[in-house]
Order: sequence, then structure tokens, then C-alpha cells
Amino acid sequence: MHTIEEYREEFIAYLDSKKITKEPRNLYEPITYILGLGGKRLRPVLVLMTAEIFKGDFKNALDAAVAIEVFHNFSLVHDDIMDDAPVRRGQTTVHEKWDVNTGILSGDAMLIMAYQLFENYEPNVFRDLAKLFSKTALEVCEGQQYDIDFETKQGVTKEDYLLMIKLKTAVLLACSLKIGAILGGASDTDADCLYDFGVNIGIAFQIQDDMLDTYGIQSQVGKLIGGDIQQGKKTILYLTAIDEMKNGKSEFKSLYDSNLKIEEKLPKVTELMDACQVKEKVNLRKDAYLEKALLALNNIDSNNIQVINELSNLAKFMVERSH
Ligand code: IPE
Ligand code: IPE
Ligand code: MG
Ligand code: MG
Ligand code: MG
Repeated sequence: MHTIEEYREEFIAYLDSKKITKEPRNLYEPITYILGLGGKRLRPVLVLMTAEIFKGDFKNALDAAVAIEVFHNFSLVHDDIMDDAPVRRGQTTVHEKWDVNTGILSGDAMLIMAYQLFENYEPNVFRDLAKLFSKTALEVCEGQQYDIDFETKQGVTKEDYLLMIKLKTAVLLACSLKIGAILGGASDTDADCLYDFGVNIGIAFQIQDDMLDTYGIQSQVGKLIGGDIQQGKKTILYLTAIDEMKNGKSEFKSLYDSNLKIEEKLPKVTELMDACQVKEKVNLRKDAYLEKALLALNNIDSNNIQVINELSNLAKFMVERSH
């Protein structure tokens, strides 16, 4: 049995042992840079924890954990280009530090490296992992496309939003858990329970991400506060404000769609959101997904109750975090 911090440390040590210092430097340096900026390392920790629930050993899952983290970081490099984001994990984003072309190509290379890491498994296991991973990676692309489409689309509903965040964020967390379950030799039922837990916790996690983008503290979040508002993202905060607002909806929409500087736009938008208790309503919705996730966790058939308890603690952290 390990603590979350121990899984994280084991993962980081393994990741460091795989560091690449090859030519051309402008391809590989951005990869080392983004992976070295840290982040919460949630997805690899989830892979390792679930592998340990069933087998009592996580070492076999380290390559898969690196694959998932490398894929996640690839998606962030491309996401920051798409969202025109200047800061990530408190540092300059790859496309700002180098340029957009470098961000695209280093990102592509990371996607390929993620696949390569799965080649370290036996053919049967490789097939199962690659199948789940490919499905997930394609879903992430679908979610990211919806996210961009919604910026300029009128009439986006909360259901549209929930599908979008399930695809862009939740399925990768669910996939991380299921990969651990596969490597740990879990039954299909338990693997599916973990997947279900992951989807629900992932939805709550992205709701919290939206919340932090508007109401977080920049030095803690490590991203530009107000980025979503600047880009006109159809976040859960925006959709809740629109639903709750009695009057002034069209003024709110034109403010949200305007090109006002973020310093001016952010306080104006949050004042209107605060007036209809957006924060409180969104928190209720988020908590409902956390509850749903925890219920799925209860259904897992394992004697390793300590790891299950750790997973539930991690789930709570994921939705209450301030970074
Ligand atoms: C950021 O993910 C992107 C989302 C899916 C919300 P994380 O919040 O897990 O980012 P890091 O890896 O900890 O920086
Ligand atoms: C990103 O969602 C999801 C993926 C990277 C696939 P966001 O655009 O909200 O993530 P952040 O806020 O930039 O980390
Ligand atoms: Mg983004
Ligand atoms: Mg984005
Ligand atoms: Mg975000």
C-alpha cells in the first residue's frame, strides 16, 4: 500500500529515467520542458493506484502511466495553441516560448511516443491497451473540436457542454483508471466500475477547472485567470448565468462575446455571474458528480480497501482543488 505522494514520486523518478536529449533540439527540448513543468500528475497516479488495487503491485504499470502523462502533455501543448494561452503551470507555454510550429510538431512527437510506450507490453496486453487508448485519444479530439465550435455557436445547452467535457477531459481520466485495471488483472465488471468512476469524477474535475479559470488565484492555478472568458468559451459558469438570469441576458451575451481587454471584461462578467449565484449553483452540480463517482467506487469487488479509500480521497481533492 502506498500513499498518493509515494505513487507520484515513483512516477516522477521513472519519468526522469526516460528523459530524452536527442537532436534536433527544437523538437525534443519543448517535450522535456513541458513534462518538467510538473503539474499534478493525476492521470499516472490513477494508473498506478488501480493497478495496485487488484495485483498489489504497480511496477508493471509504470510505462503505461508515462504514456498517459505524455499524451496528456501533448494535449496541453496543442490546447494552449488552440486557446491562445500564454501561461501553463506558472511558466510560458511552449508555443510562446518557441513558436506555433514547434508546438505542433513537438506535440505530434509526444503523441507518437505515448503509443511507443505501449509497445513494451506483451502483444495481447498491447492490443487491449492500444484499443482503449486509440478510442480515448479520438474522443479527446472530438471534445476539443466541440469546445472550439461552441465558442462561436449560439444556443449551446448544458447537455452539449456535458458531452463536450466528457470527451475532452473525463474519458482520459477514465481511461487511466481502466488501463491500471487491465494491467492489474481486474474483472471486466470492476474495470467498467472504475471507468464509470473516472467519467463522473472527470466531469466534476472539468467543472472545477472552469471554476478556477474564472475564480481561481493565478499564482496557484498557474494559468491566465479569465482565459475562458477572453476566448468566449461556453463554460458551465456561462451556461448557468444564462439560465439563471432574469433580465439582461442579451447584454450579458454581448459583453461575453466582446473583445474588451480581459482586465475590464473579467470583473464585469463575474459581477453579473455573482448576482445570480453562479458559483453556488455550479458547486452543487459538481458535488452531484462527485457523489455519483463515489457510488461507482463502492461497487468494486476488492479486498484492497486502503487503495479504494485513497482513490476516494484523491477524487475529493480533484474537485475541491485550488490548482
Ligand atoms: C488540465 O489538466 C487540463 C484539463 C483537462 C482540465 P490538469 O489540471 O490535470 O493539468 P496538470 O497536468 O495538473 O498541469
Ligand atoms: C483542456 O480543457 C482539455 C484538454 C487539454 C484536452 P481546457 O482548455 O479547459 O484546459 P486548460 O484550462 O487549458 O488546462
Ligand atoms: Mg485551455
Ligand atoms: Mg481548451
Ligand atoms: Mg480550463
